[in-house]
Amino acid sequence: MVIETLSEDVKKCVDRWKDREGNLIMILHDVQDRYGYVPREASLEISRQLDAPLARIYEVLTFYNYFKLQAPGKFNLSVCLGTACYLKGAPTLIDQVRRILHVEEGQTTKDGMFHLQIVRCLGCCGLAPVVTVGEKVYSAVKRSDIVDIIAEHAKIYQKN
Ligand code: FES
Repeated sequence: MVIETLSEDVKKCVDRWKDREGNLIMILHDVQDRYGYVPREASLEISRQLDAPLARIYEVLTFYNYFKLQAPGKFNLSVCLGTACYLKGAPTLIDQVRRILHVEEGQTTKDGMFHLQIVRCLGCCGLAPVVTVGEKVYSAVKRSDIVDIIAEHAKIYQKN
């Protein structure tokens, strides 16, 4: 049963750190490493196993941007909003991604395919504005390119 597996996984994370001070954050790191995010069921389990209020766990989860509360998408779609990209039109690219995929920053599409992330400078400002999907980097992206970029990856996904 899935719940038992999750409970056992969480127990391993808790056991690994239980005697250390400030262990909650380390436990949450372990859980995210295993699942790619911190499922609500895992938070409930940590709360139970540490005898800590669930609100305390969500306080930590929501304070650090690093933690993800939703399962990551098949493809991480990042739009750079660093200065160079911003000046060359990144905000309009973000609008277009939101419009097409119906997601906000940090959210994953309902079909689990794309996760929208907004990042600050990818270190290739000469290529601005920059969009990445997984490992692939798109340079000098125009608003009208976004549909094709998304479609390209949707096709890759459908082939696999
Ligand atoms: S600002 Fe976008 S790559 Fe540097």
